[in-house]
Amino acid sequence: MHSGKLITFEGLDGCGKSTQLEKINNWLIQQGCEVLKTKEPGGTRIGQQIRHILLNPEHKELNPESELLLYLSDRIQHLKETILPAKAQGKMVLCDRFHDSTVVYQGYGRGIDLRSIESIISYSIKPYLPDLTFLLTIPPETVAHRLDQRDEQFVKDRLDMESQDFFERAANGYHELASAEPERFVCLNGEQEVEVIHQQIIAVIQQRFEIGFKS
Ligand SMILES: Nc1ncnc2c1ncn2[C@@H]1O[C@H](COP(=O)(O)OP(=O)(O)OP(=O)(O)O)[C@@H](O)[C@H]1O
Ligand SMILES: [Mg+2]
Repeated sequence: MHSGKLITFEGLDGCGKSTQLEKINNWLIQQGCEVLKTKEPGGTRIGQQIRHILLNPEHKELNPESELLLYLSDRIQHLKETILPAKAQGKMVLCDRFHDSTVVYQGYGRGIDLRSIESIISYSIKPYLPDLTFLLTIPPETVAHRLDQRDEQFVKDRLDMESQDFFERAANGYHELASAEPERFVCLNGEQEVEVIHQQIIAVIQQRFEIGFKS
């Protein structure tokens, strides 16, 4: 049995995380791996309640620091309750966004002091960092176009909420995080064909974890 691994998928809205996560999930299952596919926020029962607070449009008074702490409490709950036990059972855990999203969206995007985010992450998440993080890169201008391909009302809500400027800051944040941890991050050009990206992801997983060499 393979030892469990945590693989996270990161990148701007619409960069292709869910598309690639679904494909690699199927591939890993074909290779005989046990896989847990999960996402944040809202991966746990408590997380669902936190998500309700975070996404309620009436909560206009939600302070950015409170928002940050809510996201982090969901991530910590998710990590301890779901991800770590699955890893301990030897599962490949595929997570759609993880702590890097918090740093990028709340820190670089909303402008919360990165040191205050870092101080919480360093004791609660850093001991359990992902084994591998795929960062799918797309230009911030592509976000609107990608989201446009999906449900229209949903797109409108999302794009009304965040400005182009926000996505540019977030893209820069991802770039800085990936440069700081080149071993953990694998950056892939999210503008390539879905299948091309999928094959690149397979190649990295084969190389790092010795999965998928069986005939
Ligand atoms: N490589 C690609 N080239 C072109 N279109 C793509 C590619 N990957 C995904 N898409 C399309 O872009 C849209 C967004 O993809 P997807 O839902 O996988 O992104 P996401 O990163 O999960 O977004 P979100 O952050 O909003 O969850 C979908 O319509 C999807 O079919
Ligand atoms: Mg998605």
